[in-house]
Amino acid sequence: MRVLGIESSCDETGVAVYDGAQGLLAHRLHSQVETHALYGGVVPELASRDHVRRITPLIRETLAAAGLSVGDLDGVAYTRGPGLAGALLVGASVARSLAWSRDIPAVGLHHMEAHLLAPMLEADPPAFPFVALLVSGGHTMLVQVEGVGRYRVLGQSLDDAAGEAFDKTAKLLSLPYPGGPSIERLAAAGDPDRLRFPRPMTDRPGLDFSFSGLKTYALTVIRDAAAQGLEAADIARAFQDAVVDTMAIKCRRALEETGVSRLVVAGGVGANSALRARLTEIAGKHGATVHYPRLEFCTDNGAMVAYAGHLRLAAGATESAAFDITPRWDLESLAPPA
Ligand code: KG4
Ligand code: ZN
Repeated sequence: MRVLGIESSCDETGVAVYDGAQGLLAHRLHSQVETHALYGGVVPELASRDHVRRITPLIRETLAAAGLSVGDLDGVAYTRGPGLAGALLVGASVARSLAWSRDIPAVGLHHMEAHLLAPMLEADPPAFPFVALLVSGGHTMLVQVEGVGRYRVLGQSLDDAAGEAFDKTAKLLSLPYPGGPSIERLAAAGDPDRLRFPRPMTDRPGLDFSFSGLKTYALTVIRDAAAQGLEAADIARAFQDAVVDTMAIKCRRALEETGVSRLVVAGGVGANSALRARLTEIAGKHGATVHYPRLEFCTDNGAMVAYAGHLRLAAGATESAAFDITPRWDLESLAPPA
């Protein structure tokens, strides 16, 4: 079965084709980073308009790269939520119309399910069960994954998502959007012993996160930076170390509490190399393996949607042609494929 996947939940238009027998055939991405960088963050209406402009040419390009035409597709998958309503609507309406016109099935997917299954596209896919650390611009969660559609949320952020904390702190440091890669680059030149940020919610049991305090802490530190002789790089380093450390502590706890020996890390912040190095280290000490998607599949992309869509469509998932989107969507409400 050959499935076209469409991702349009935020500021990336992603399209891919996944074939059950041959694997990923082609994938293309258009990032809107330049559009939103001017404003220091994603402007929802500009995002929707750009998806409208890009989505059809991107589908054509992806099919051409796979050497296919629309008639070769057996199904279409799209991101139904969570995400920006207007942006989601673009992907949903294009996917549903395409499926309807070819009389093939379409399925609307949970964005975080697509993220957590992304490492399955790699050479060493994790077996079930695994614990997934999902860290993106909109979400931070630890999920126990027993199988496709069998998810238990172990903990999540009570306020800002990890990526959001990176983006907001970067803005305070006058670094370009998106903040994650900017902070990572600057932190590499920072002195790790110059400053220490708190590790929020690590001094009590539980697997929830809270990152909004780090941003406030950063604000205070930046205000006094000149007087203290602090460089921006030292602040970036201390902030990143605190986020990485906090996530490492919670991941170790999740592995201990569940007795699971595989950790999956996905979502945009999963591209952070300091985080990757630290999680590989703690998992190793715990006798666990860590699985990451390749860097380009950590951030939003069409490949993860095509793959997750294939899993559900090949299992016989059917949905009515009336399309809908779910901008806010509880991951635990999902069921296994038919
Ligand atoms: O998964 P994603 O592409 O989109 C959402 O679904 O949100 O994640 C985007 C987030 C942004 O907040 C961005 O700053 C962060 O991922 N990010 C990073 C890195 N690359 C992207 N954060 C830390 N280090 C990075 N290298
Ligand atoms: Zn995402």
